[in-house]
Amino acid sequence: MAHSGSLVEDLNTLESEGLKAVQSAETIEALEQVRIEFLGRKEGRVSGILRRVGEFSPAERPKMGATANRVKERLHAALKAQEVSLGQAVGRRSVSEDLTLPSRGRWVGGRHPVTQVIDDLVEIFRTLGFTLVRGTEAETEWYNFEALNTPLDHPAADEQDTLYLKAGHLLRSHTSPVQVRTLERYEPPIRILSPGMVYRRDSYDATHTPAFMQLEGLVVDEGISFVDLKATLGEFARRFWGSDTQVRFRPSFFPFTEPSAEVDVKRVFLNERGEESETDWIEIMGAGMVDPAVLDASGLDSERYTGFAFGMGPGRIGLLRYGIPDLRLFFENDVRFLGQFAGP
Ligand code: DAH
Repeated sequence: MAHSGSLVEDLNTLESEGLKAVQSAETIEALEQVRIEFLGRKEGRVSGILRRVGEFSPAERPKMGATANRVKERLHAALKAQEVSLGQAVGRRSVSEDLTLPSRGRWVGGRHPVTQVIDDLVEIFRTLGFTLVRGTEAETEWYNFEALNTPLDHPAADEQDTLYLKAGHLLRSHTSPVQVRTLERYEPPIRILSPGMVYRRDSYDATHTPAFMQLEGLVVDEGISFVDLKATLGEFARRFWGSDTQVRFRPSFFPFTEPSAEVDVKRVFLNERGEESETDWIEIMGAGMVDPAVLDASGLDSERYTGFAFGMGPGRIGLLRYGIPDLRLFFENDVRFLGQFAGP
């Protein structure tokens, strides 16, 4: 009786030959030939060996069966993989060669939703006579804090909140330093707006990010009063949220304004019948009369000039405007999210 060891060896040899043949097949047709040569049902070499199983004792057959199955499976898998890679190569070639195929759809960019909010805010203030200025994101302690009437031992100046760079420099924690830089450079009347990124040592969650947009506004001239602040910001809110928008000024505190206020707008929710069902007030910005100390620090005569300032977060306004539940969506740049805001 034949000895099973030699047959198992034959199968192993066949396996390595088969795998080599699969690897070197460079076309689908050549691969098909390899399949027929090794796995073909009638003439295939694996079948040929299996036909000899009958020559062995029943005790030895299971071992040969298992080896044969393993060889078949491996060859099948290798054929499949080679077929996929050849198919892809073939596909690539025909696409580049067939010039009659339709082109791929074009990707059309859109403005980021926060940019859209900023553009809308800027446009409204432009019609109210404001000019756009740019600040720097790296600032000094002087511009970010001290000139804004905020001593360095103020909690906001703490390392907990501010990201420090080398040698007294830092990443600005708000856009208010632009106030000082503007007052140093230009003569009143001043009416400026300055959007830009600000940085804080903050967590990254649904309502906080360590970097976010702010929009700063500043008006300085002779005779500017709180009436101008209320009129300007009220007018802005009505243009942005609609002509019947109600605005509320709540007393607050900022080191660089006196008096200070937080500005809220009233939101009205309608029920299915279009009736007013619920209202709430949402805070949209901080504002106030420029503290005389800020004018003095900027080299301006605080006896002669007065002004008001305000700061808001376009990201926050975007969340409210579009009903977005999580600030992180603005930063993760998932085109499925962003695409919803792209215009036609
Ligand atoms: N700088 C303030 C902040 O980051 C926002 C702010 C409040 C700006 C009042 C102002 C202002 O100009 O008058 O929280």
